[in-house]
Amino acid sequence: MKKLRLFPLQNVPSEMADATIAFRNDVFEGLTRNPKAIPARWLYDHRGSALFEAITLLPEYYPTRTERSILASALPAISAIAGPGRALVEFGSGSSAKTRLLLADIEPSAYVPIDISGEFLRDTTVGLSRAFPTVPIYPTEPDFTRPFALPKQIARSPRLGFLPGSTIGNLTVHAAVDLLRALAGTLGAGSMLLIGIDRIKGQEVLLPAYDDPQGLTAAFNLNLLHRINRELGGSIPLGAFRHVARWNDTEFRIEMHLEAIRDVRFDVGGRAFFLAEGETIHTENSLKYGRGEAFILLRAGGWKPVADWTDDAELFSVVLAEQEPPQAAP
Ligand code: AVI
Repeated sequence: MKKLRLFPLQNVPSEMADATIAFRNDVFEGLTRNPKAIPARWLYDHRGSALFEAITLLPEYYPTRTERSILASALPAISAIAGPGRALVEFGSGSSAKTRLLLADIEPSAYVPIDISGEFLRDTTVGLSRAFPTVPIYPTEPDFTRPFALPKQIARSPRLGFLPGSTIGNLTVHAAVDLLRALAGTLGAGSMLLIGIDRIKGQEVLLPAYDDPQGLTAAFNLNLLHRINRELGGSIPLGAFRHVARWNDTEFRIEMHLEAIRDVRFDVGGRAFFLAEGETIHTENSLKYGRGEAFILLRAGGWKPVADWTDDAELFSVVLAEQEPPQAAP
């Protein structure tokens, strides 16, 4: 089992928030290990989230618009299979753009947007309740990677979970299976899950999507170093790093790295770090799945695919699955 390194907290001001302590521990641990890596969740501060929203509009970043067009054409079939009266539970609702499509079509009994950003949730709730005045909305802010209790108002409704955007791809396979099982626990027996999963494809499409000519993805990745400097009192020279996106052909994933373009020394929170020229900090994985692998992943997580849809170029998949009780082998 991986050993967790704990760093003494004596230099932490007492008012330092739990999230900042967790960020600092991840940065210290990630810059001490070999190869260096910092968990992708720290990419999403306010500026990082805004940059990601801008990335989703880039012509090179195919996932968002492809998923939206798949959903638009599959909605009649999704509504027919799932049936009316389900509570729609969206995990990581963000700006809820795709949700509008669903809410307009599936006749839900309620909508439960779940996001760790309270700010996003409040804006979303206000906008959606104006657009869909008859659908009750119950926003919640738990950590959805573990099972949690849904609002009691939806206790009697069957549930349709929604995990769009290939969020699942940012997890290792192991963590993805854990998440799918946690979602099954949260949604309960009889629930269904609608999930967006990005497909394996050629590097001529993948690489520009994660290293766009406008430099938005580079800014998104490098923003992590800004954040370390700002929130953790770092002295990282930003000009000493460049954004790198590469395809890992054995793990079937795009990796984002921050590569040192020269030997570089810096401090974070009073600790000294060093990267040699060419050394990288691994900041994100984005796993891609073939149709069959996606189905096996869902089965491993306790979900049985019942229908799936893709676009003409098979860039992206949307899968509708139902909860599957564990079965014995034949
Ligand atoms: C949020 N997630 C699904 C994005 C992805 O495509 O893996 C994050 C991202 N990273 C760089 N560009 C987009």
